[in-house]
Amino acid sequence: MAAKKVPFNVMGKVVVVTGGSGTLGGAICKHLIQQGAHVVVLGYRDESVVKRLKELAPFGTPMGLAVDVTDENQMATVRHKVLEKWGRIDVLINAAGGNLPGATIPPGKSVFDVSIPDLRTVIDLNLMGSVVPSIVLGKTMAEQKQGSIINVSSMAAERTLTRVFGYSMAKAGINMLTKWLSTELAQKYGDGIRVNAIAPGFFIGNQNRALLTNEDGSYTERGQTIIDNTPMDRFGDITELNGIVQFLCSDESSFVTGTIIPVDGGFSSFSGV
Ligand SMILES: NC(=O)c1ccc[n+]([C@@H]2O[C@H](COP(=O)([O-])OP(=O)(O)OC[C@H]3O[C@@H](n4cnc5c(N)ncnc54)[C@H](O)[C@@H]3O)[C@@H](O)[C@H]2O)c1
Repeated sequence: MAAKKVPFNVMGKVVVVTGGSGTLGGAICKHLIQQGAHVVVLGYRDESVVKRLKELAPFGTPMGLAVDVTDENQMATVRHKVLEKWGRIDVLINAAGGNLPGATIPPGKSVFDVSIPDLRTVIDLNLMGSVVPSIVLGKTMAEQKQGSIINVSSMAAERTLTRVFGYSMAKAGINMLTKWLSTELAQKYGDGIRVNAIAPGFFIGNQNRALLTNEDGSYTERGQTIIDNTPMDRFGDITELNGIVQFLCSDESSFVTGTIIPVDGGFSSFSGV
C-alpha cells in the first residue's frame, strides 16, 4: 500500500524566522518545529533568543542567533551558518518588527510633533528589516531555484490606522516588496521561488498590549473600536497564524505567489456598517 501523503508537509525544511524570539514569530517557530522543520530562531537580543530556545527545547533543537535584521553583514553571517549546518534555506519568514513612541502620534498631539529620527528607525526596521534578509537569503533560494519567502504585513498597510504613522508606511512598503519581489524572482529564477505575505489583524503582543488592553484585561477605547470593526468580535490567538504559514511553507502552495493574505477575523473586509 502506498504511504499516506502528509498534507502541507514541512518535515525537514530549513526555515529561518526573523523575530523568532517575539510573540508571533515564536508561536510560528514552535508550530513548525512540531511539524518537523529545521528552524532558525533570529532575534535582536541574546537574552530573548536564549529564552525562546529554552521554551522551544521540549519540542526540538532549533538554531538560535541574535542579529540586527537591517544589517547586511550580520544577515550574511546567518546565511553562512545555516548553509554550514543544513546546506540549504527553504523558507524565510520575516517576522521581525517593532515601533517607537516617537514614530506614533499620541492623543492630543499631531503629526507635527513626530520625531523624524524615530520615524526613520521604525521605517528602517519594519521595511528594510524584511528587504535585507530577503535579498541576502533570497540569493541562496535563487541559486537553489527553490524557496518561499513569507513577509508579515499588517492591517496598517492598506487603510489608515490613526496614530500609527511610521509603522503604517513601512508595512505598505512590505506589500509592494511582496508583489515586486515575487515578480522579479519568478521571472528571473523560475517558478520554484515564491514570495507572499500574511497580514495579521489584531493579536495581543508586546507591541500593542498597552494600546489595546488595560491592566485589568478590559479593552481600551481603541481596543474596543477594533473589536467593533472585527466581525468575529475578538482578537486573534497567536496560534491562528500557524495554518496559513505552514501552507505557504509547504509545496502545496507551489502556484501561490505575490499574495497578501489577511488573517484578521474579517476586519479588512468589513465596512463598519
Ligand atoms: N501583534 C500583532 O497584532 C501584529 C499584527 C500585525 C502585524 N504584526 C507584525 O508581526 C511581526 C511580529 O510582531 P510581534 O507582535 O510578535 O512583535 P514582538 O515585539 O513580540 O516581536 C518582535 C521581534 O522582532 C525582533 N526585532 C526587533 N528589532 C529587530 C532588529 N533590528 N533585528 C532583529 N530582530 C529584531 C525582536 O527581537 C522580536 O523577536 C511584526 O512585524 C509586527 O509588525 C503584529
